[in-house]
Amino acid sequence: IKDKNGVSQVLLRSPRGASARVSLHGGQILSWKNEWGEELLFTSSKAILKPPAVVRGGIPICFPQFGSRGPLEQHGFARNKMWTIDDNPPPLQSIDTKGKTFIDLRLKPSDDDFKIWPHSFELRLRVVLSAEGFLTLVSRIRNVNSKPFSFSFAYHTYISVSDISEVRVEGLETLDYLDNLCNRERFTEQGDALTFETEVDRIYLSSSDAVAVFDHEKKRTFLIRKNGLPDIVVWNPWEKKSKAITDFGDEEYKVMLCVDASVMERPITLKPGEEWRGRLDLSVMASI
Ligand code: BG6
Repeated sequence: IKDKNGVSQVLLRSPRGASARVSLHGGQILSWKNEWGEELLFTSSKAILKPPAVVRGGIPICFPQFGSRGPLEQHGFARNKMWTIDDNPPPLQSIDTKGKTFIDLRLKPSDDDFKIWPHSFELRLRVVLSAEGFLTLVSRIRNVNSKPFSFSFAYHTYISVSDISEVRVEGLETLDYLDNLCNRERFTEQGDALTFETEVDRIYLSSSDAVAVFDHEKKRTFLIRKNGLPDIVVWNPWEKKSKAITDFGDEEYKVMLCVDASVMERPITLKPGEEWRGRLDLSVMASI
């Protein structure tokens, strides 16, 4: 399907009616709905839908740099490029696609990309929607160059919540984190669960492979499982920063939370011919 800005999108539908929408601009997930048609990802009402803007919401893919530190633009260039449908992807045995719908996308770097990041790579993304409506993203990055390169990466996941002050994140307790609001100073998480009453922008290091986000008001729990992605960035801009972000509503910080499975502290280095994989599994359950 093409949207009104001429960007192609792919719609995946499960037999029970769950769905996921993926844009070829950035390989970005723009929507993920459960079988009752409820949207599970946040997208700002002020999002700019026309490239070269990156849609504020869904799941932008950040590569080859996540964050502002490094030689590239914030979050790298992959989220702002046109991807293509990959009709003939190399096999990916680790994912059972039986009874699931899926699509393979690919980003081929252009000559301009090479000028700003002089490395030859293949970036592939498989998006899988299960019969239950669970979403799996697998990225594969291969070095097709004759010298090594390093990168960071993230699934910058905007979760839709009903009231941020009632949200609890579990799975980060006792972890060390770098605080982006304190010049990346290192702290250790002391609480049993993370709750929100002010701006948060933290990089939790070497987290376990599962994190849960409890949305108390909606009685809904998001389970974020990951593989190959050691760190978790948790971000909510809160009141003041929301007002400063032009494509974000002043009050929208109340209904979103970014929980980004990522490679942040220690970049991945790939030797010529090597491949890296990063997998994200998102599921939602009703909680009591
Ligand atoms: C988060 C970062 O992941 O993304 C924040 O930790 C940043 O520092 C946020 O502000 C949004 O980034 P952007 O480029 O999409 O506005």
